[in-house]
Amino acid sequence: MEAKVFLGLLACCCLTFVSAELEGYKIYDVTPSNVFEQQVLEHLDNIEDYDFFHRPRTLNVSSRVMIAPKDQDDFESILNKFSLEFNIVNEDVSKSIHLERSQNMLFRSMTRGISFSSFQRFNQINAYLDELAAKYPDRVKVNNVGKSYEGRQIKTITISNGDKKANKNVIWVDGGIHAREWIAPAAALYVINQLVENYADNKDLLAKYDWVVLPVVNPDGYEYTHTKSRMWRKTRKPSSGSCAGTDANRNFDFHWGEVGASSSSCSDTFRGPSAFSEPETKVVRDQLLKLKGRAKFYLTIHSYGNYLLYPWGWTSSLPSNVNQIDEVAKAGANAIKSATGTKYTVGSSTNVLYAAAGGSDDWALGVAGIPISITMELPAGGSGFDPSPKQIQPFVSETWIGIKAMAKKVISKF
Ligand code: ARG
Ligand code: ZN
Repeated sequence: MEAKVFLGLLACCCLTFVSAELEGYKIYDVTPSNVFEQQVLEHLDNIEDYDFFHRPRTLNVSSRVMIAPKDQDDFESILNKFSLEFNIVNEDVSKSIHLERSQNMLFRSMTRGISFSSFQRFNQINAYLDELAAKYPDRVKVNNVGKSYEGRQIKTITISNGDKKANKNVIWVDGGIHAREWIAPAAALYVINQLVENYADNKDLLAKYDWVVLPVVNPDGYEYTHTKSRMWRKTRKPSSGSCAGTDANRNFDFHWGEVGASSSSCSDTFRGPSAFSEPETKVVRDQLLKLKGRAKFYLTIHSYGNYLLYPWGWTSSLPSNVNQIDEVAKAGANAIKSATGTKYTVGSSTNVLYAAAGGSDDWALGVAGIPISITMELPAGGSGFDPSPKQIQPFVSETWIGIKAMAKKVISKF
């Protein structure tokens, strides 16, 4: 049998297996046009079964939410009762996931090594890191920095220019804190790919700085979205509550649990039973503390919404060095805007998105003392978290333009 046909068949068999996933689920865009409607949305956001993908606190900007078949009548009647404007953007999530999985499998089967034409599984990502370490031993070091709850090996890659100078300043990049945001590990991988395999073009970024990249902070969740449940966000560790998983980006120990984080295990923004309850957030904590004093830029990649967010997420007041951070974030937004026209909103998490405590960015600045700390929310693809495999390359190269501009600004400052 011809290889492609065989792989195609293989894809179909695997797909029948997951085809019931999110069957009949719909995705709605709801746009509040006054403060009252805004409050109705806020109330709906507290209902655990309503999965809000995106909920900006700005009037006339739409929120996006995924609703299970059993809840759709109630949901729509509430919207109608309060005359909130809505629009169904995905009539059956299972269909688009089905399509995504088959496309991804097909593109994956056609390429070897690292590829930006399909989403990579966790093992492939780790294998790529090890391959780089073997191929470029002078400039690349891969470290095993801990295990996920389910025992997956979490690795960082440290990239230098090979001059063997100790204690250089550091830029840290991570991705994949949230499982379903597949474009984030892809973007982190592209950073690695460019710094290592396109070294000639990126030498200046490594002259005075080393880069440390952790492409998949939450591998258990990431793999779970590949095999079981595409829209999973959290880690996978059970807690004493009835549901598994913690929102890793509510689990950091800085004003932990104070705002925008749930104490209920079934919520998608569950803060965890205690701060740093998750092995995956401990890994980030321990690595950043090791780099204390050296790390000048903490960048964490998420999706979606086109934001460059900075602290604080726990309060609407601003950090004392907000001007510096704002300047760096704006350099990123401007570089992207002039390269591709894509617009990013720049501002503090609380002020431009929503208040949520326990985020890695707040902790990086507030505790690890990293002066520039930014959350980058990449653009939406598909219904939000599911760009098509064809969108990966344009998304990650655009993102890299922004990251380079921010890195250059940081390097000029410290
Ligand atoms: N969408 C991200 C989240 O909900 C934004 C995080 C921004 N940072 C923060 N500390 N709230 O996790
Ligand atoms: Zn996220």
